[in-house]
Amino acid sequence: MSNHKEVKKITTHTLLKMKAGGTKISMITAYDFSFARLFDAAGIDVILVGDSASNVMAGNETTVPITMEQMIYHAQCVVRGIDRCLVVVDMPFGSYQSNADNAVASAIRIMKETGGHSVKLEGGEEVLDSIKRIVAAGIPVMGHLGLTPQSIYKFGTYTVRAKEEAEADKLRKDALLLQEAGCFAIVLEKIPAELAKEVSRSLTIPTIGIGAGKDCDGQVLVMHDMLGINNEFKPRFLRQYLNLENQVVGAVQQYIRDVKSQDFPNQEESY
Ligand code: KIV
Repeated sequence: MSNHKEVKKITTHTLLKMKAGGTKISMITAYDFSFARLFDAAGIDVILVGDSASNVMAGNETTVPITMEQMIYHAQCVVRGIDRCLVVVDMPFGSYQSNADNAVASAIRIMKETGGHSVKLEGGEEVLDSIKRIVAAGIPVMGHLGLTPQSIYKFGTYTVRAKEEAEADKLRKDALLLQEAGCFAIVLEKIPAELAKEVSRSLTIPTIGIGAGKDCDGQVLVMHDMLGINNEFKPRFLRQYLNLENQVVGAVQQYIRDVKSQDFPNQEESY
């Protein structure tokens, strides 16, 4: 008999069944071992190793500069921390846009080197060939429509997308194309709630919303935002569950006071 505890792992099929059964999907970003371990233990369904690492881990203004090597490093750390949840790894800008050969080679590298379970890439019709090739290689793909931050220099701002009918119509069509191409789920970022509801109902695969209202099949938040690590970032769609900025600054200020006053370490804390 093995000592290994049996854990029911979440797969892409689990997510499809959750949608069919009306159970909402919870997803959060993580970039390191320690937080991935906590989120998995809390019972999260999906961890996204987001290219938002470029912003929240590296301090860049956009997701554009993050490299394949950096994404692989973050994903490896996350995978070491989890037991049960599904891990999705973002394909960084430049690793799939040029052609389908480049895309499939990048996705294979991510899968081989990280131990992640799937990849995510941004865009609709423009990246359809790449998605088909990656899926044909046996790699599950999550799509991403609406506000696609890797295209920030095309959009010019991070405001809500698809408010105009032409863009909304393209998004409806793109969602169906991604489903036909074999995506197992689609992130809908910052689009009107009514449009997200309509798209979610038109698909058999789940939609995961961020700033896309309550009728998506699941929700995703960036961990730093929902834990309140940066009080200056408070978009309308964000629910902040902690104020870590205040708590961390307060704790470190207390530590500094204890060191300066020679309260720390005391006798019990010494050998
Ligand atoms: O990189 C990321 O964190 C994301 C989420 C915002 C969906 O793509």
